[in-house]
Order: sequence, then structure tokens, then C-alpha cells
Amino acid sequence: MTANRGIFAADGVSGILGVHSLDTFSFHVPDLAKADEFHKSFGLVTRQRDSGLELLTQGSDHVWGRITEGRKKALSHLSFGIYEEDLERFKLHFKASQIRQIDPPTGYESNGIWVRDFEGTLVELKVAVKSSPDQKSHGVMMSSPPGIAGAPKRSAAGIVWPTRMSHILLFTSDVDRAIKFYTRAFGLGLSDRAGSDIAFLHGRHGSDHHMIAFVKSSAPGIHHTSWDVPSIQQVGLGAMHMADKGFSDGWGLGRHVLGSNYFHYVRDPWGSYAEYSCDMDYIPRDLDWEAGDHDGEDAFYVWGPKPPADFAVNHEAG
Ligand SMILES: [Fe+2]
Repeated sequence: MTANRGIFAADGVSGILGVHSLDTFSFHVPDLAKADEFHKSFGLVTRQRDSGLELLTQGSDHVWGRITEGRKKALSHLSFGIYEEDLERFKLHFKASQIRQIDPPTGYESNGIWVRDFEGTLVELKVAVKSSPDQKSHGVMMSSPPGIAGAPKRSAAGIVWPTRMSHILLFTSDVDRAIKFYTRAFGLGLSDRAGSDIAFLHGRHGSDHHMIAFVKSSAPGIHHTSWDVPSIQQVGLGAMHMADKGFSDGWGLGRHVLGSNYFHYVRDPWGSYAEYSCDMDYIPRDLDWEAGDHDGEDAFYVWGPKPPADFAVNHEAG
């Protein structure tokens, strides 16, 4: 494993040195056809590419996810987006921090830098257009004027198309080390935490309350990917459409405390989740957000049903 001792904070002398987006996540599944069905049903656009799948959102060319075939569902790597002028600065920063730069995995072309985090997870930093939002995505509560019926008929309710990826929640064996590594190596900011159980990190060039988060487990893994939808109506509608297609297990409708988003999680065929998310808090570039350390029980969700008993099980461990 790469030696990471003695890493320096990523704050540069001439401004923020930090990733601006979680550009792409990549994972393996044992059955690409099932992955295709699940993500299409969820409202994402899937595209066959090489021997795998790409995940996009309707009306955009941005590839948010890449799925390849493997023995079990498992995280392959993360790709963070950086500004072109920060590429050389990051190379120097990694060198000074004793984070070894490695070759890209076979089959991946890259204009960027590849490293491993403290648990061995592959991470790429690549020059990319900022895909994290530059302003808050407002959740819309649709209402109707007096004398007009507000709800559509069920058959006319429409299809839910998430507009973009919001964040990813990963399992880790050590939340404290994850905070230290991802803030110092990649310049992410700590948004909030609940002791050493869970931590939420934002991009310091402006992003949702969290673009990546870590929750305690025995090993690395994916807990969920999260996708922004523009209204609470869309959160509920997405959940219903997924149930109609056989994906009825999950958790929601509810509202989180940390991040404030309305949510519904849908369980995928491998025990991790895809989340419909609406109206998450936003941390602007110039705001010095004060990270809180919260009581987990009081900060998990404001309201909603009880989560499933196995909600926090890491199916990639062991
Ligand atoms: Fe989430």
C-alpha cells in the first residue's frame, strides 16, 4: 500500500488547491444486464461502452458512472475533476506528501494523476469540466391555485429523470483516517460528522453539502450513489416507479438532518442503494462552513420510517 504518512494539507499559497467535482465513479457487478435494468428503471440513461455500461442523466453527455463485470459488486475507482491549472500543483503536492503516483489501470486512458487512498482504493484526479453545481438546486414544492386540482392522474404523473449525481457514500474501516486523507490529499472540506461513525465532505470550489461521505464498516465498499431530482414529488414518484418494476426494497420517504435533503433509497440487486435526493444544502465556494460533530442518533433523519435492519451492511466486506 502507498505510504501516506506525513501528508500536508492541500491548501495552496495562491488559492484553494482542491478537487472541484466527483466526476465519475466506477464499480463492478456480477451481472451487467441486471445493472442495466436497475439503473434504467431508476431514470438514468445507460450506454454500452466497450465491455461495460456507462451511466448518464437525461439530456447530458456527462458520464457519471462506469460499470464493468466482476465477481461481485465492488468499487473499482473514483475520478475527481480538477482545474487544468491545478494539475501540476497536485503533482507537487502529492510528491511533497509522499503519496505515490501510479499508472492508470489497464484499459483506462487518463490525462490525470492516479493514486491509492489509505485503504488502497484507486483514485484518479483528472482535468475536467466542473460537474458539481455552482448554486443550490432548489427543491420545488408544487402547489395549485384555488379551484384547480393539483395532483395529476397516476397514469399522467410522468417519468422521473434525475438531473445529476449528487454524491456517493462509501464504507471505510476508519472514518477519522478517511477525513484526514481526503481533506489533506484532495482538498475536500469537512461538512459535518458524527464522531467516528460517519463524515460528509464537500468540494471547496462550491458543491452540495457532501459530494462524498464515509461511514464506518470493516472494509471499503459502496453504500449508495445519490441522484438529484427537482421536487419532493419526484422523490416519491421515483420510489413508486421502482416498486412497480420490482425494486420495492429501500428506505424513505424521509428527510436527513445533515445535508437536509429529502430522500428515498432504492435497494439494488446487490444490497447497496441508489438514492433519489432533493433540496440538499449547498456550500458556496467563499463560505467558511463550520463543520459540526453531531450525535448520530439525533442527526440521522428528521422524519421518515425506520431504516431497514440491514441498511448499513457492507456487502463488499468479507
Ligand atoms: Fe445520500
